[in-house]
Amino acid sequence: MTSSAFETATPDPIGYLDRLAATDLARSYKARMLDELDVRPGQTVLDLGCGPGTDLGSLAEAVTATGTVIGIDHDQAALRAATERTAHQPTVTVQLADLHDLPLADGLADGARTDRVLQHVADPVQALREIHRVLRPGGRLVMGEPDWETLTIDHPDGELSRAYTRYVTDQVVRNARIGRELPRLAAGVGFTVPTVLPVTSVLRDARTADRILGLERNTQRAVAAGYLTEEAARPWLDHLTHGPFLASVTLYVVVAES
Ligand SMILES: C[S@@+](CC[C@H](N)C(=O)[O-])C[C@H]1O[C@@H](n2cnc3c(N)ncnc32)[C@H](O)[C@@H]1O
Repeated sequence: MTSSAFETATPDPIGYLDRLAATDLARSYKARMLDELDVRPGQTVLDLGCGPGTDLGSLAEAVTATGTVIGIDHDQAALRAATERTAHQPTVTVQLADLHDLPLADGLADGARTDRVLQHVADPVQALREIHRVLRPGGRLVMGEPDWETLTIDHPDGELSRAYTRYVTDQVVRNARIGRELPRLAAGVGFTVPTVLPVTSVLRDARTADRILGLERNTQRAVAAGYLTEEAARPWLDHLTHGPFLASVTLYVVVAES
């Protein structure tokens, strides 16, 4: 089962993050997250799960030369890229570490962000506890995390699209409903949550959607896992390739104060 229109090979993880970060949509919600973080000159801010360092530059600008930015990630390759990309920024350091056990002193940071990270961690509550610990009282955490159950893909047979979404939420993303859960989970570890902002991406171009959602790859896997039949999957993908296309998914920007 292949479709010439859609990508079949898995993109390399850093290339995938870079191309996503370059979209208008990502730029716009990342700018909103930065506004909500309300960084002041001289502050110490953390980018937890910083990946290849996409957001470290804008944080460095916000803290100015008197502040400190710490990027943390548990992936060696991502950290290498982040280190190279921020080599010219003396206020930025990057550290290999796990969000469940941060190598940072209590109350060290004024602000922190997670951007599509808590959806992947083994224990989001433990990660939130750690973030609460390393923030000073009154410090601010801004999280941008999706809720994959909001993934809708238009098709005349809605059940096929629901089956695809079920596969993504059951098998692809570890904490698929984290977006809606964050206000409750953050409150549970002692944060107050003043703001929850939904950011809904509406994708109207099949190829753009494929580059974000991996439609071909994940449909193949959904078939192998028994969520869709081979007979249904081929015409489903063909329809997405040829007809007018619409898919949407909501990411929640959640602001929490310690
Ligand atoms: C989807 S990427 C997002 C990267 C970056 N925040 C961005 O917006 O481009 C998720 C990142 O979280 C990191 N990550 C996932 N679980 C982690 C953990 N337990 N500790 C540290 N980093 C983690 C991954 O290695 C990956 O770089």
